[in-house]
Amino acid sequence: MKKYIFSIAMLALAVQGYSQSAEKGKKIYSQVCIACHQTTGQGIPSAFPPLAKSDYLNKDVNRAIKGVVKGLKGPITVNGKKFNGEMPIQTLSDQQAADVMTYVYASWGNNKTVVTPAMVKAQRK
Ligand code: HEC
Repeated sequence: MKKYIFSIAMLALAVQGYSQSAEKGKKIYSQVCIACHQTTGQGIPSAFPPLAKSDYLNKDVNRAIKGVVKGLKGPITVNGKKFNGEMPIQTLSDQQAADVMTYVYASWGNNKTVVTPAMVKAQRK
């Protein structure tokens, strides 16, 4: 029984941590990413790929993180459309990158992956 209550408490903490992270991420999104990926993550056709319901994003979290922290260049296909642009390296701390990615994953029909600073750090190597 004690174990059960403990699990519930941990879950509540996790959910709280998650919403705080997404909240901070929203601010970073609106300062940094919005210029290219737009308010609702819809992007701009043939220039900036969508983040909303993006198959590229939802398929591989580590690949998505890597693109954001190291920059992304060259042909990619997102939701069946080809993009051949360049995303400059986004200079964010591990925490900021985790928050903004968590926000993006929590928004616009994406798969709600929670990104931690440790996951970001691993992609900087
Ligand atoms: C200066 C414009 C610009 C900014 C600012 C920018 N991006 Fe991008 N982003 C791009 C371009 C261009 C691509 C596609 C690159 C290519 O064609 O290889 C891209 C690709 C991506 C992708 C992978 C493709 C997809 O649509 O799923 C993700 C994820 C992404 N960006 C997230 C972000 C996040 C999060 C931020 C803010 C921290 C951000 N970007 C800021 C221009 C930008």
